[in-house]
Amino acid sequence: MSETTEPDARTAAAATDSDRAVLRTDGVTKRFGGLTAVDDVDVEVQKGEIVGLIGPNGAGKSTLFNCITGTLSADEGRVYLQGQDVTDWPEYKIARAGLGRMFQETRIFGDMTVRKNLLLAAQEGGANVGSLLRRPDDTLIERTEELLDYVDLGGLAETRAGRLSFGQQKLIEFAMELMAEPDLLLMDEPAGGINPSMLENLIEYIRTANEDEEATIFLIEHNMDFVMEIADRIYVLAHGERIAEGTPEEIQNDQRVLNAYLGRE
Ligand SMILES: Nc1ncnc2c1ncn2[C@@H]1O[C@H](COP(=O)(O)OP(=O)(O)OP(=O)(O)O)[C@@H](O)[C@H]1O
Ligand SMILES: [Mg+2]
Repeated sequence: MSETTEPDARTAAAATDSDRAVLRTDGVTKRFGGLTAVDDVDVEVQKGEIVGLIGPNGAGKSTLFNCITGTLSADEGRVYLQGQDVTDWPEYKIARAGLGRMFQETRIFGDMTVRKNLLLAAQEGGANVGSLLRRPDDTLIERTEELLDYVDLGGLAETRAGRLSFGQQKLIEFAMELMAEPDLLLMDEPAGGINPSMLENLIEYIRTANEDEEATIFLIEHNMDFVMEIADRIYVLAHGERIAEGTPEEIQNDQRVLNAYLGRE
C-alpha cells in the first residue's frame, strides 16, 4: 500500500521564500516621458499576508499596481505571480491567473442589483454572461449568498447597487473580487471616502477574508491608522523609489519615511 498524503516536502524544502511568494517584483521601472514614476522597485508578498503600500501623493503606488496587473507594461524589471513570470502577459490573462484588483473609484454596475453584480463578477471574462444571469449554477448562488452575508449586505441583495452609499458600494466590490477567489487581491485605497463607522467594518471584513478565505492582500492606503492596524508589513514609496520596508512599528519610527511625508508639503 503506497498511500502518500504527505505534502511534497522535498519541493517545499528546496523552494526559497521568493519561490513561494504569491507576488514578487524584481526591479520594476516605469517611466512617463522624463518622469520615472516607479524606479527599480522590488516587493514580495507571501501567501496569507496583508501587506501595505504607502507613500505621498504621486509616489508611484498606483503605477506599480498597474505594472503588476498588466494595465501598464513596465519599462524594466519582472513581475512574478506564484513564481511564474507574468511580465508580458495581457491584463485579462493575469487576472485569470488569480490576481484580483479593487480600484480607487468603484466599478460596479449601478443599474443591476447587488446580487447580480456578484454573480457577474464570478463570471467576469467568462464566455457567456447572459446565460449566467439566466441560470447561475448552485455553487455560484451559494457563494453569492455567503459573501452577501459576510459583508452584511444580504438584506440589500435585490436593491440596485447604484442606490447604495459609497462605502456599501466598496463592500460590494470587495465581495465581487472575493467571488473569484483570487490568490492575491490588490486594493487601491479601500478606505478612501469611507466614513469612520464603515471603516471599522471594512477592517473586520478584510481580516476575515484574510483568515477565513485565505485571501492574500496587497493594499495602497493613505489612511495611516487603517494601514498600521491592518497590515502585517508595509512598503513605502517616495518619488518612485522604495525607501522603506518593515512592520507597522518599524515604519512609524523610520526617519526616511517621516521625511518623505514631511517633504510633501
Ligand atoms: N498615465 C500617466 N501618464 C503620465 N504620468 C503619469 C501617468 N500615471 C501616473 N503618472 C505620474 O506618475 C507619478 C506617479 O503616479 P501614481 O498615480 O502612481 O501615484 P500614487 O502614488 O498612486 O499617488 P496617489 O496617492 O495620489 O494616488 C505621478 O507624478 C503621476 O502624475
Ligand atoms: Mg494612486
